[in-house]
Amino acid sequence: MSSKIGYAVVGLGIGRAHADGVLSSERGELVAVCDIDEKRLGKFKSEHPDVAAYPNIDEMLRDDRIEIVSICVPSGLHAELAVKALEAGRHVLVEKPIDITVEAAMKIEEARVRTGLKVGVIFQNRFNACMEPVREAIDSGRLGRMILGTFAVKWYRDQKYYDAGGWRGTWEMDGGGSLMNQSIHTVDIMQWLMGEVDTVTSYAGIHNHNIDTEDLTASVIKFKSGAVATFVSTTCAYPGISTDIQLYGTGGSIEIDGDKIKLWKLVDGDEFEEEEMLENYGGGGTPVGDPVKVRGHALQVHDMIDAVYYDRDPLITPREAIKSVAIVNAIYESARTGKPVAPKKV
Ligand SMILES: NC(=O)c1ccc[n+]([C@@H]2O[C@H](COP(=O)([O-])OP(=O)(O)OC[C@H]3O[C@@H](n4cnc5c(N)ncnc54)[C@H](O)[C@@H]3O)[C@@H](O)[C@H]2O)c1
Repeated sequence: MSSKIGYAVVGLGIGRAHADGVLSSERGELVAVCDIDEKRLGKFKSEHPDVAAYPNIDEMLRDDRIEIVSICVPSGLHAELAVKALEAGRHVLVEKPIDITVEAAMKIEEARVRTGLKVGVIFQNRFNACMEPVREAIDSGRLGRMILGTFAVKWYRDQKYYDAGGWRGTWEMDGGGSLMNQSIHTVDIMQWLMGEVDTVTSYAGIHNHNIDTEDLTASVIKFKSGAVATFVSTTCAYPGISTDIQLYGTGGSIEIDGDKIKLWKLVDGDEFEEEEMLENYGGGGTPVGDPVKVRGHALQVHDMIDAVYYDRDPLITPREAIKSVAIVNAIYESARTGKPVAPKKV
């Protein structure tokens, strides 16, 4: 028997990126995949004949080589399948959003506590190289007291994208639209950089797609700290514009365009530091830190395997991931009621 940690992936859309992450890891071994879609399962099997291919998760969980399971199915099924894997004694890495409601997501957290197993959640954008100096500027106090943030996720998805999934753009399985699916990455970054949200006041609407949920939201976010942010999400901005994140504090201003620093002006900084930041993190040079290829999904899959190997927590835990789900649902409630809404406590 292999001494490597046996890994399985459920759902072969973005799940293929998890499988690639396992295949590129030192300590993990991809032993199984699972998908209810015969075509997707068959295609994977033809490319990886040594990996067991299961048409349902119950059958897969009888394979005792598996120690970790990645859950990469439609968002509204995350808790059901993650809890099943935990109760069967497996550690779990769940795709974002952890699930589409705080209540469902808490079932994963409760199962984690009950079983004593490990649960990690994917939010790969936290590990973009440019986030390191930004966090450092906040943690060290150099950015000062945060005053304003502006966040805009202006992406594009055509109607085919929604039609292909079936589950996408539905309240039952996607839990929302441009905000719950695409922009939750940036909601997570917003709360990670700016702190606890007090209230949100929001608009949500359908502007250019035939879906149930929304393809555009706009919100004013008030933080417990007194800071304010605007947050815009859409899947209507052809052909898809990179995400804007802009932070203004008493100690200066930082602007990020996609995964690059665009502006770095700190009151206690100088032009040499500004140049260095733009050179290292602005696309002008090689990003500092890990090579880009190990970032993203592979980084989090490797982290999950290491968390099991070294018996420590994964980089992003359920409690951390649930915060963004609470904020997204508060935005939807505010859009429905026309009133400011406080996110549920987690
Ligand atoms: N982190 C990211 O950047 C990122 C990117 C894309 C998707 N996602 C997330 O990943 C999840 C899946 O999205 P996707 O775009 O890959 O969707 P998808 O529809 O392309 O793939 C989902 C797969 O799950 C399979 N599936 C459904 N129910 C199943 C079940 N009960 N058992 C086994 N397989 C089942 C489907 O047949 C399908 O092949 C969503 O939660 C989405 O939010 C994350």
